[in-house]
Amino acid sequence: MEPIGEEKDGMHDADNLKKLYKAQEHASLEVLYSLADAVDARNAYTTGHSKQVTVCATNIARVMGLKKKELDAIKLCGPLHDIGKIAVKEAIIGKPGKLSEDEFSQIKIHPLKGYRIIEGLDFLGEARLLALHHHERFDGKGYPYGLKGEEIPLGARILATADAIDAMTSDRPYRKALDIDMVLMELDTCSGTQFDPKVVNTLLKRVEQKPEIFYGIIKPKDI
Ligand SMILES: [Fe+2]
Repeated sequence: MEPIGEEKDGMHDADNLKKLYKAQEHASLEVLYSLADAVDARNAYTTGHSKQVTVCATNIARVMGLKKKELDAIKLCGPLHDIGKIAVKEAIIGKPGKLSEDEFSQIKIHPLKGYRIIEGLDFLGEARLLALHHHERFDGKGYPYGLKGEEIPLGARILATADAIDAMTSDRPYRKALDIDMVLMELDTCSGTQFDPKVVNTLLKRVEQKPEIFYGIIKPKDI
């Protein structure tokens, strides 16, 4: 009977270890998310931005019928996708006007810096790549690597669209938030260049069938 007891204890230990790992992952995530919130709050205009992008991207992913694993990666990545902006100077992050070429090149390092911060955290899985590629463009003119089309992970293509939607629907020092019709027109215009046409088409089709769905997509609902 002794070996059975030992096996039971072994299973008990394994369960405890699993719980401990989960608790550590949760604590690491809380720290990362707090840090990412603080980075957003360096500029009054981007306070809450990452949370809003997470809501929007998650809702787009649901509309597109993504699998749970892909949806979870978007949910994990959304709140910390801009964490690499911690490496960008305050004067550039908070600059109200147009950025110079040199300032913009400093902004462009943030996806790679963010990836460096989180790359060792295995529990983040695919979410790490989504953070790395959230500024790639469908036409290959994005950064950091200029990936094109389906070379870009689908979750990153969705996050890029949600990122732009949140920027367009928020006030900026140099302009007021765009109205919904303007946002939809902009998405349509930049479909195939900045944005993945599959993401834009699904979104536009759903909004056409049910216009109020757009408010559900862009507002914090169930996160
Ligand atoms: Fe970003």
